[in-house]
Amino acid sequence: MYTTNALYMEILKIKASVRVHENTDSIEPEDRALLEMAKEQIPHAYAPYSLFRVGAAVRLQNGTVYPGCNQENASYPLCMCGERVALYTAAAQAPDQAPVALAIVVKNDKKPVETPVSPCGACRQVIAEFEHRFGQPIRIFLQSGHSKIYELHSVKDILPLTFDASFL
Ligand code: THU
Repeated sequence: MYTTNALYMEILKIKASVRVHENTDSIEPEDRALLEMAKEQIPHAYAPYSLFRVGAAVRLQNGTVYPGCNQENASYPLCMCGERVALYTAAAQAPDQAPVALAIVVKNDKKPVETPVSPCGACRQVIAEFEHRFGQPIRIFLQSGHSKIYELHSVKDILPLTFDASFL
């Protein structure tokens, strides 16, 4: 609960803006292709426990694209998110190339998902590490099935007051 007596100096207001696209018509062809690649990953997801499939695709500065999807394990904490599979695959293949865009598409086999789903906290932190490492933001596109598409300019829109290596 907020303290009632105003002993603080100021209130820090945090702003985030998310572009909402009704469909892919208003999205640049290369970003549309990235969303397509993420969608194609959905059937490849290994999600027998959650039945929640996450397809991802990352585009690097040089235009190369890498896919990923979530990988689960009977030992649940070992599950790996689709976003991280894509980002780490890209980083292993092209370590000097900055990721510039990331598409994330989800499908829940148990129920329809009507709205775009944001990456989990762990993935936000990993995306923030890539932004810091290469000194530039990564645009993020989120979609569920045929839902609207959310476009974020940077992970900082969904991870404000970000912790990164600048503090170390
Ligand atoms: N998952 C992702 O792949 N990305 C996220 O950002 C959220 C969760 C996966 C992990 C697990 O395989 C399943 O979705 C359910 O949590």
